[in-house]
Amino acid sequence: MTDTTLRLSTGDVIGTTRSSRLFRTRVPRPAGTVRLGPERTGAARTNLSPVLQHAQPPAVLPQANEPCWCGSGRKYKRCHKPLEGRVLQGVVSPRLEVPAHIERPPYADTGIVQRWAEPRVKSPEVIERMRHAGHTAAAVLRLAGEFVRPGITTDEIDRYVHQLCIDRGAYPSPLNYNGFPKSVCTSANEVICHGIPDSRVLQDGDILNIDVTCYVGGVHGDTNATFFVGDVDPASRHLVQVTEECTWYGIEAVVPGRPLSDIGRAIESHAKKHRYGVVKAFIGHGIGEQFHTDIQVLHYYDQRANMIMRPGMTFTIEPMITMGTWQHKMVFDDDWTAVTADGKRTAQFEHTCLVTDDGVEVLTASGGASPSAPWRR
Ligand code: MF3
Ligand code: CO
Ligand code: CO
Repeated sequence: MTDTTLRLSTGDVIGTTRSSRLFRTRVPRPAGTVRLGPERTGAARTNLSPVLQHAQPPAVLPQANEPCWCGSGRKYKRCHKPLEGRVLQGVVSPRLEVPAHIERPPYADTGIVQRWAEPRVKSPEVIERMRHAGHTAAAVLRLAGEFVRPGITTDEIDRYVHQLCIDRGAYPSPLNYNGFPKSVCTSANEVICHGIPDSRVLQDGDILNIDVTCYVGGVHGDTNATFFVGDVDPASRHLVQVTEECTWYGIEAVVPGRPLSDIGRAIESHAKKHRYGVVKAFIGHGIGEQFHTDIQVLHYYDQRANMIMRPGMTFTIEPMITMGTWQHKMVFDDDWTAVTADGKRTAQFEHTCLVTDDGVEVLTASGGASPSAPWRR
């Protein structure tokens, strides 16, 4: 057993844990982007015009044999009924601009992400800049979470986050990263991650993950949380709570000298206790001057994740936990949105972490949106 001191980025000690657990991670591999044909994805992708494809359902739904609300001319049961209660693709609004005085990451204009060798162990000077980027992302995420309510669209959240970043002198890292069209990821209900903000209206009872990344001072800070939209059912609330606990068990497993696999072991064992699934296709990642570097943080145990954690390393921990299967599929035509293969709900939390001499500093914790973080439990 190793003693780990948990510290906030303020330097405050928030707890001590003894750790000999295992762990894992995630990078946005547009995860083996399987393009499913219409016959496997239901009516939302059958021969519909773009306008119909992106239509949203009315408050009162038709009977099975009545015409579908989408205007396809087909019976509801042969059209959108199989997708009742599922998140549907909305309309994505035009790209937002970032003012010229904001420093832009190298991909901002081209959408092309070129990787370079970046030291895994950061200098004190880079770490200081990462603290600022982390705090900035945490503040933006908290405000975005407070903005969540039934009746608004995820596009409105995107516009809000975009402006919050700019107000803080930050570039919203997702914007044009590998062509991503918006400034934040918004992933509702069965959407695992990388949801694109659009015209979908948040419904009472939804759960919504907001994933904020800020580029400021030449480095990125990456953090996300899952928020409740109005009144959420107890099973979903439990999922969200356990997912945040998983995230913190993963963080507590960050110990210099230990392998990264400790993190996934800690996360997986807590998820399994509650019979939840752990998504494997997306992992935590090294972060710094680049949004994603070569450190891979699996959220499940794999003995091959044997890279040793060293003081000065920075990476994210961002488990995606599901109420059913861990498998995902890509059913939207955007090559980004990943949903659970069984349509059951999924939640996620994310922090950017720094390995310290005696444990971990959570660069995105202070002032952030973390209702069940250890110091509040
Ligand atoms: N913020 C996500 C992560 O945690 C990555 C989003 S990539 C984007 O790694 F292009 F979708 F923004
Ligand atoms: Co991340
Ligand atoms: Co993120």
